[in-house]
Amino acid sequence: MQNDEIPPLSGWSEAELDRAFAAVAAEVEKSAASIRSPDDKEQFRLAWLGRKQGRLKAISDAWLKSAPAEAKKQIGQRFNTLKAEIEQRLEQAGAGSSDSALNAEAIDITLPGTRRKLGAEHPLIKTWNEIVAVFQRMGYSVGVGPEVETDYYNFESLNFPPGHPARDTQDTLVIVGQERKPLRDRLLMRTHTSPVQIRTMEQQPPPVRIIIPGKVHRNDAADATHYPIFHQVEGLCVDTNITFGDLKGTLDAAMKAFFGSSVKTRFFPSFFPFTEPSADVQISCPFCGGSGCRKCKQSGWIELLGCGMVDPAVFGFVSQKQSLYDPARISGFAFGMGIDRIAMMKYGIGDIGLLYSGDQRFLEQFA
Ligand code: DAH
Repeated sequence: MQNDEIPPLSGWSEAELDRAFAAVAAEVEKSAASIRSPDDKEQFRLAWLGRKQGRLKAISDAWLKSAPAEAKKQIGQRFNTLKAEIEQRLEQAGAGSSDSALNAEAIDITLPGTRRKLGAEHPLIKTWNEIVAVFQRMGYSVGVGPEVETDYYNFESLNFPPGHPARDTQDTLVIVGQERKPLRDRLLMRTHTSPVQIRTMEQQPPPVRIIIPGKVHRNDAADATHYPIFHQVEGLCVDTNITFGDLKGTLDAAMKAFFGSSVKTRFFPSFFPFTEPSADVQISCPFCGGSGCRKCKQSGWIELLGCGMVDPAVFGFVSQKQSLYDPARISGFAFGMGIDRIAMMKYGIGDIGLLYSGDQRFLEQFA
């Protein structure tokens, strides 16, 4: 329709201009009326407003450019009115029309929306946050460290010398292709959060009160209580005159805050290379109050964490970088516990693998 020639104006009088522009406006109206689909609409736009082949451009070329100076203003005004009219038609095309093809593009606000399922905190993360919060309230700050760790930080600086049998208690996943490095620089997946103790002390002078939650890895076969990935919370407190009494008081208060004020703690001698003396801590069963139930295997007590006074040898390693960690002047305690086990106990989860299954039927029970 629009590609036909533009009829030349037969004069420049207002009457002639009115007639000529009215004829074009009628054409616009006719072609706008035949818009049926988004495709038609685009065709209409191109035909009239297209920069190169649009009819408006052709009209302007034919009429405006050849007009004598006195007529240019008259033509220009009418030209602008025409353009506004075309744009308005374009805007209106489809709006309010009952045409189905056009309406198919519109949004039907009466349709039900997309319902997104509400997420829930994973029981492991919930437990993690709760434990961390207990220590934060006691003035501890929160630290992090890398999961891919060097032999030095994971073992040597924690007083596990190369070949020491204590290394065998932590079946280690090592990174391939490290054989040409000196042992201390070889990379492995950290088997515990304890290396962050060293990293923290190297970074800041005493005093230190820090809690370090994190993921750890061991080459353990998966069964109901083992998984090659699990989580620990590490704690470290270093200052002048820190005693075993501080350790006992801190952990007792923390266990009461976490499990309830009636929970009791007891300490047994143990061994960790990086603490001396070392202890295992049991809490009275928070489920039966100590009388014996399935959760505590009828013993009334549950073993929950390892701890001890920081071994002077550990301060020795740290003082290579931070000389203020002089075992003659300062002392400290450390502790570590498994988050998974605590979460399992708290929520009655029988299989650690469920925590890593991503199974929504399991997870939504904690929503
Ligand atoms: N890192 C030890 C482990 O994974 C747990 C532990 C024990 C951490 C005693 C400590 C500690 O900080 O003092 O078996």
